[in-house]
Amino acid sequence: MSSPIIAPSVLSADFANLGRDVEMINSSNADWFHVDIMDGVFVPNISFGFPVTKAISKQAKKPLDVHLMIVQPERYIKDFKEAGADILSVHLEASTHLHRTIYAIKEAGMKAGVAINPHTPISLLKDIIKDADLVCMMSVNPGFGGQKFIEQTYTKCAELKEMILAASSSCLIEIDGGVNEVTAPKLLKAGADVLVAGNYVFASSNPLETIASLKSLNK
Ligand code: DX5
Ligand code: ZN
Repeated sequence: MSSPIIAPSVLSADFANLGRDVEMINSSNADWFHVDIMDGVFVPNISFGFPVTKAISKQAKKPLDVHLMIVQPERYIKDFKEAGADILSVHLEASTHLHRTIYAIKEAGMKAGVAINPHTPISLLKDIIKDADLVCMMSVNPGFGGQKFIEQTYTKCAELKEMILAASSSCLIEIDGGVNEVTAPKLLKAGADVLVAGNYVFASSNPLETIASLKSLNK
């Protein structure tokens, strides 16, 4: 038994009080900052880019887990390293030469993640699973916080866990979207290692307690 890695999603923070919310995560039981970058092309929304990521990284006392929801993510690997990313995830659906991109992320000194949309089958990860440090499995269609969790994620998570074990890979399973007190225990049972939580944390009356409750779950 061990505790999951908890990564609150800054997308749901109050951007007019970003420093305050970064401090809240610093002082919480959370492990990482989850930072969502959206380009308005890969997903139907635009979030923020380098200046905001840099500002978060300057104040953050925990690793930055940066999730790129952008087309041709390979163009910006060095820029995100400079902006303070520790883990950089690119979407499989947005990457034509995924191995090349994964190696470039590692060469730049970051952990490399592969994110997959809810409709993307786990089987497509077979030839990358040994090279990826993390798979960010979307349990909602990427683009917005606070969406409804897709129930099929539990089975997909278990399937991915099986693939990772069979390949003797040390890849972590991260679940992104709709994580809360109902979905989190079932996800951990299915093999999840990292829980991203945006709305559940920031819309709660006591974000510190909400983070602590997720961290206290067993995996
Ligand atoms: C969605 C983002 C998520 C989002 C999760 O496109 O990738 O990281 O912030 O938000 P919740 O936890 O509110 O579903
Ligand atoms: Zn995300």
